[in-house]
Amino acid sequence: MRGDQGGFSTRAIHAGYDPANEHGALTPPVHLTSTFAFDSAEAGGEMFAGTREGHFYSRISNPTTDLLERRLASLEGGEAAVATASGMGAITAVLWSFLQAGDEVITDQTLYGCTFAFMRDGLTRFGVTVRQVDMTDPRALAAAISDKTRIVYFETPANPNMRLVDIAAISRIARAAGAKVVVDNTYATPVLTRPLALGADIVVHSATKYLGGHGDLVGGIAIGGVEDMRRVRMVGVKDMTGAVMSPFTAFLVMRGLKTLSLRMARHGESALAVARWLETHPAVTGVFYPGLASFPQHALAARQMAHGGGMMAFELKGGHAAGVAMMNRLTLIRRAVSLGDAETLIQHPASMTHSTYTPQERAEAGIGEGLVRLSVGLEDVADILGDLETALEPERVAASA
Ligand SMILES: Cc1ncc(COP(=O)(O)O)c(C=O)c1O
Repeated sequence: MRGDQGGFSTRAIHAGYDPANEHGALTPPVHLTSTFAFDSAEAGGEMFAGTREGHFYSRISNPTTDLLERRLASLEGGEAAVATASGMGAITAVLWSFLQAGDEVITDQTLYGCTFAFMRDGLTRFGVTVRQVDMTDPRALAAAISDKTRIVYFETPANPNMRLVDIAAISRIARAAGAKVVVDNTYATPVLTRPLALGADIVVHSATKYLGGHGDLVGGIAIGGVEDMRRVRMVGVKDMTGAVMSPFTAFLVMRGLKTLSLRMARHGESALAVARWLETHPAVTGVFYPGLASFPQHALAARQMAHGGGMMAFELKGGHAAGVAMMNRLTLIRRAVSLGDAETLIQHPASMTHSTYTPQERAEAGIGEGLVRLSVGLEDVADILGDLETALEPERVAASA
């Protein structure tokens, strides 16, 4: 059997690569080259005209990033992909490719802080209208969508409050209105959720997170149909953002992908144990984790996600001050933004990743001022729990007093 036809983990390791084409090298070589020599001047002209296949300049394509793109297209169930310099590079390249002045974008209320800032401050400067609706209720989209709506955009689970969006229900409404559905699948990864199979048109990722998985790179990727991805490459990346992924980053993401399904299983197992433990803690007032039976959208999670994943958010009785004090007592868990790494990471969205929102915008999006976001890593879960227990002890005493 060829690796291209195997199961998810097999394709994550083998898809698109045959060592026989690279001197038997088990690991794909990294093509660190900016440009490519043409066989003839005519061949170069034909490549520029798009009538001949081949690589001619690494801002447009490169054999190493091309392999990553084919591998991730396979894992997400898409026809093609475009790797970018960052997750924001993927998001902006996709949106610039399909929008013009007078168009409308509808997004969910909860978005990663820089995506939110791009929608509110970036797109609107160029005559695009951005409307926000609560997409946890598909009827809100049905009421808001119009013939001007070109893109419907959301995250599921959403960063940082973990709200889920029903991809199939939203896609039905958007498609009927002629709008493209773009889903940020960074939190779930294709291990948990495959938005394209549920009706979405384009998936974007911050590859910085679970896909890379080791906290040593910044990258992004967009995945979708051949024609859409051609446009993202030739308009959004080539001409508008220039946000191309370096071949070396593509190599690191491919190294991460080899263990993606193993890592996600461990992240999910440990996160469920942590969420269950936090839920019973007297100082904790709320735990937001899709794998918990108490999660308000648990039924949707069971339908749309293979398991609850590695991310969660929680709130303490003592609010923001208690959250800050607890974070400062941690000795194993790192106070850091980003997520999806081997290390467990904790951060405070209102003052960090979501400080781009005004307090009122955060309130409307359901991002509590005291909310703490936790990315559960791959350490022994007993050690993660032990660190949390020690750091929460003064809050437990205060809450029980
Ligand atoms: C859900 C989500 N999407 C997109 C991004 C942006 O990705 P990057 O930091 O790789 O540009 C992030 C970053 O934290 C994120 O959490």
